[in-house]
Amino acid sequence: MKASDVFKLKNKNGVEVIFIARGGQITGIKVPNNKGEIADVVIGYETTEGALAGDAYFGALCGRYANRIVNGQFELNGEKYQLDINNGPNHLHGGSDGFNLRTWEVEEVQLPQFAQSYKLTLVSPDGDQNYPGELTTLVTYGLTEDNEFVIEYDAVSTKDTIINLTSHAYFNLEGAGTGTVAEHELLINADKFTPIDGEIGTVTGEIAEVKDTAMDFTTAKSIGETLSADCPQVKLVDGIDHNFVINGYDGSLKLAARLEHKAAGRTMEVYTDQPGVQIYTGSHFDSSEKGKLGAPIEKWAGVALETQIFPDSPNKEHFPDAILKAEEHYKHICVYKFL
Ligand code: BGC
Repeated sequence: MKASDVFKLKNKNGVEVIFIARGGQITGIKVPNNKGEIADVVIGYETTEGALAGDAYFGALCGRYANRIVNGQFELNGEKYQLDINNGPNHLHGGSDGFNLRTWEVEEVQLPQFAQSYKLTLVSPDGDQNYPGELTTLVTYGLTEDNEFVIEYDAVSTKDTIINLTSHAYFNLEGAGTGTVAEHELLINADKFTPIDGEIGTVTGEIAEVKDTAMDFTTAKSIGETLSADCPQVKLVDGIDHNFVINGYDGSLKLAARLEHKAAGRTMEVYTDQPGVQIYTGSHFDSSEKGKLGAPIEKWAGVALETQIFPDSPNKEHFPDAILKAEEHYKHICVYKFL
């Protein structure tokens, strides 16, 4: 398998999901609107070469632990681990050689529930980025005839370890390269979120109510309203870069969020069996790179909806458990459904 190998999922409605072997990186999702007009709704680069050279989190599979682990440290079975540090003092998205930078083995598979599907496999050796256990990860990318792009994760380790995998596509339902997501309406099925303590975005450990704050998306509202809100949590990261606590988490598939661009005529729902979803409005984009349609990738050009366990769970006892016992299976489903 070559890093640059390109794969495509298609269904009868003209939906297409395009990805490459490196990072399982989703480089395009083409979706019709309510008039049948197709747009590419994930931001990124125009070519595979661009994707390989550019921001390697765009659309990528992140692991072994997506999001931040404070100081890259955790304790498991009485042993202390120091992970690779790649984000200020912290560990982010699995370290400087995270799963987003690995070339995955990709194989097309026939599964009855999907119009088309692929299996992506990665074996991460014991001690990779200082994580314990050899971890074998299997990800299924499947596209249904109902316009659902399904990501199913399954991972097994030879030793007790910690894990939190996610997918890092940034969506813009008007189309990549058309502007910011400020005019998108967002609903998040979360009465609570996990506040952060500084620009670097680590969670304080608090689980706070969204009620009466700019983080309240329990009824749909424009993202722009929050981006311009006089709210300390928003100011810290110049946007939204927060984990939301999905209501009623019980391990079954729940609605995490709904994103809509009314004028463009496109709506997407996100479902997951995970307890959290990180909403990130791409505050670090600074227009220095050219993306799709030749447009600069500007601040807030897309919004990532990353289903996950909470950030820094291994150090926060009251957060959901991120421990994967030896030979047991980590499972995670994320569905992006285009209406
Ligand atoms: C995080 C951001 C981070 C970004 C890197 C997101 O998942 O929430 O804080 O800057 O990934 O691409």
